[in-house]
Amino acid sequence: MPMTRLTLLLAVALSSASALAEAPAIVAACKSCHAEDGSGVGIHFVPIITGIPAAHIEEALYAYKDGARQCMTEPVMCETAALLTDEDIADLAEYFSQLERPSLNVPYDESLAERGEQLHDMHCARCHVPPDDPDVADALGYPLHGQHPAYLRYALQAYIDGTREHLLEQMKEKMDLLEDGDVEALVNYYASY
Ligand code: HEC
Ligand code: HEC
Repeated sequence: MPMTRLTLLLAVALSSASALAEAPAIVAACKSCHAEDGSGVGIHFVPIITGIPAAHIEEALYAYKDGARQCMTEPVMCETAALLTDEDIADLAEYFSQLERPSLNVPYDESLAERGEQLHDMHCARCHVPPDDPDVADALGYPLHGQHPAYLRYALQAYIDGTREHLLEQMKEKMDLLEDGDVEALVNYYASY
């Protein structure tokens, strides 16, 4: 029996619905560091890649692919990104963006976290909102709350050292205002989330 237009539409709708829940096969290339659920395998400098809107995951993967971000601690991340097709990147971003960010249970320093919150509100809150904020997909920057401290410390230092290009001049202006010790305060604040 030939498929009617309706059954065809339904079949397409169903297959894309199940595709949303299932990991694309290419996740095999990410598992050894990020785990299939994006929460990581316990390597402290590997970022948590859930709770990030799809557009930002794509942006990051292209930044590794084209060299705007260099992989100073783990070259395999950049080597892997270089092999991804546009379709892989779209599928991976779609998949990881649907997974919730797990709560981060790490020790942090309370007084540094308080100072970090002030710095965040003053310089960063306009573009960086928590992963469960209703406006997270429209924010210009990635959610930093609940990200591994070791990764954030490293990423901030990479912008300061220039091994990561700033994709937005406005963020560079804010980073230039930071003084000694501010990175540590911010990292403790994001860890307290
Ligand atoms: C060998 C370990 C390793 C593998 C394999 C790996 N990654 Fe990564 N990933 C890392 C590390 C380490 C970083 C931080 C790199 C840096 O900026 O220097 C990273 C960063 C990222 C980021 C940026 C997150 C952010 O907050 O900016 C994304 C997205 C990402 N990886 C996705 C993937 C995907 C998707 C795959 C599979 C196709 C993958 N990674 C494979 C280790 C790995
Ligand atoms: C005008 C908007 C804007 C402001 C203000 C801003 N950022 Fe960003 N930030 C971005 C964008 C866009 C990206 C991603 C593109 C890139 O790598 O440049 C980003 C990326 C980052 C990353 C990398 C995240 C990851 O997961 O790899 C960190 C860390 C970060 N910002 C910290 C900060 C801090 C701390 C401040 C305040 C001192 C700040 N940003 C202010 C827009 C902003």
